Amino acid sequence: MINFHKDHATLVNVALMGFVLLSTGVAVAPSFNMQDNNGPLPDMPVMTAQERRGLDVYVAEGCIACHTQQVRNIEMDKTWGTRPSIPSDYYYSKQRPDIWRNTPSLLGSERTGPDLTNVGVRKGSEAWQMLHLYNPRLVEKYSIMPRYGWLFREVDSTAVKEGDVTLAVSAENLSHPGKVVIATERAKDLVAYMISLKQAPLPEGLAPEDFIGSRSDGGAMAASAASGATAAVDGGRVFTSVCAACHQPDGKGLPGAFPALAGAELVNEKDPLKMVDIVLGGYDGLPQYGPMPSQAHLSDEEIAAVINYVRSNFGNDAPPTDAETVKTQRAVIAPETVQR
Ligand code: HEC
Ligand code: HEC
Repeated sequence: MINFHKDHATLVNVALMGFVLLSTGVAVAPSFNMQDNNGPLPDMPVMTAQERRGLDVYVAEGCIACHTQQVRNIEMDKTWGTRPSIPSDYYYSKQRPDIWRNTPSLLGSERTGPDLTNVGVRKGSEAWQMLHLYNPRLVEKYSIMPRYGWLFREVDSTAVKEGDVTLAVSAENLSHPGKVVIATERAKDLVAYMISLKQAPLPEGLAPEDFIGSRSDGGAMAASAASGATAAVDGGRVFTSVCAACHQPDGKGLPGAFPALAGAELVNEKDPLKMVDIVLGGYDGLPQYGPMPSQAHLSDEEIAAVINYVRSNFGNDAPPTDAETVKTQRAVIAPETVQR
């Protein structure tokens, strides 16, 4: 019979063994498992140096106070991504700045503003991101997000240099009329980071986890797609949630930043094909504006509905298109988004 009160060596050894076993079980083994099983997804782009600096600006400015970057596997999170987030999505956090500091995984816990996991898909326009940071109210009328004016400088128009990013801020929105607003390096880095935020696709053959509470067929949108019921999609709703951020709720655009769709020649063309192609593939045909990002993340039905909405509202009057046409064009313009 071991007497712990007398045999101190045994006491220490037993305690030590308990300690080693426990730490192996709850700390060492799981961390090796994490290391081996949570590599980056094969189609995940490597973060550029600029995007990495932008992440640091995001941390420094405290954006995490109002924004999450985690799509939970519940029905209400469906709007923020095409699949629930997985550990590999946070692979960037393995690239530590130095041995003393850990890189934060920016999951966040407060959603005063939208989740940003997939914001590069929703708002992949530099012009939009810049204006929004300079003053959110310029693009989202009733936004409660604070402005980040210190990421920009107002300079004389003669001081604008080659390579400067200028913002299309109208005279009445300038604090010093006559000046030009340019982005600082920190703003450029932060915007590059914002636009890089896109959910990477899972490797072929790997099904994403289901959203709890959603039907196994992927919800109402997919159900209506299967039955080909275009009527079920409200084009006005798609316009408000997707296009209005740039082209504005009244379709009149923002001078210098986003063109008007109201009365636009291209929108009123008899043949809708050009417009279908623009929404699917993005567009950079107008010299006075920056590029429009592709909206191919929308379904065929949604794209057809929103195009028909734009072509029959805001004073526009042009014949409609249909989901079948969008489907055919998708195979040509954005084949990578064709549903397998
Ligand atoms: C006080 C809370 C708050 C803070 C801090 C904040 N935001 Fe926001 N943010 C919001 C709200 C509310 C919205 C929705 C309204 C809008 O689009 O302006 C929003 C919207 C956004 C959007 C558009 C998202 C979408 O899906 O349309 C982006 C991008 C964004 N914020 C980035 C940032 C960045 C970058 C920072 C830090 C520099 C930041 N936010 C700090 C509250 C905040
Ligand atoms: C993130 C900002 C943004 C979003 C969202 C957006 N657009 Fe655009 N759109 C632009 C910009 C910028 C241009 C100008 C592109 C260029 O320079 O050629 C443009 C151009 C267009 C044009 C061509 C206009 C013309 O006169 O030639 C059409 C049509 C259009 N958008 C339709 C849409 C529709 C429909 C949606 C919603 C499904 C949408 N856009 C969403 C930014 C956006």
